[in-house]
Amino acid sequence: MTKVFIVFLGLTIFVVSSSNAAVYKGQKEFIKQCRKCHTPAQGFVSSHTAAEWEKIFTNDGKNLVALHLKEKKAKAAWNYFKGKKYPKKVKHLRQFFMEYAKDSGNVPCL
Ligand code: HEC
Repeated sequence: MTKVFIVFLGLTIFVVSSSNAAVYKGQKEFIKQCRKCHTPAQGFVSSHTAAEWEKIFTNDGKNLVALHLKEKKAKAAWNYFKGKKYPKKVKHLRQFFMEYAKDSGNVPCL
């Protein structure tokens, strides 16, 4: 019984800390890649509810790429959205936005 409990505890800690890591990685990416255009940053992150963010990031974030590629004002970000880095980071970005969504009650330090 104790063994089962320890395994369970270990798994819980692992899951919780890896999802926090994703939020943190997403936050770092947001500061580096998105904040320059989307200010005030805190207002931007809390401009949508978690469900809305989830929708924005559907299709592996490809909808968000399309949205930026048709915006002339987002030209400076075109290379980033077309590059290899974005597909790797998009799941972290999604976690970050959902963690700090309008209905989350959380406020990010940006
Ligand atoms: C070079 C400037 C620029 C950068 C960098 C940029 N964006 Fe945008 N973004 C825009 C513009 C312009 C629009 C379209 C106008 C608008 O809705 O504000 C837009 C629209 C959006 C929208 C839709 C707005 C809404 O409220 O639904 C989201 C979501 C978004 N961007 C997320 C991001 C994320 C995430 C990043 C970083 C990975 C990012 N943007 C980087 C310029 C930029």
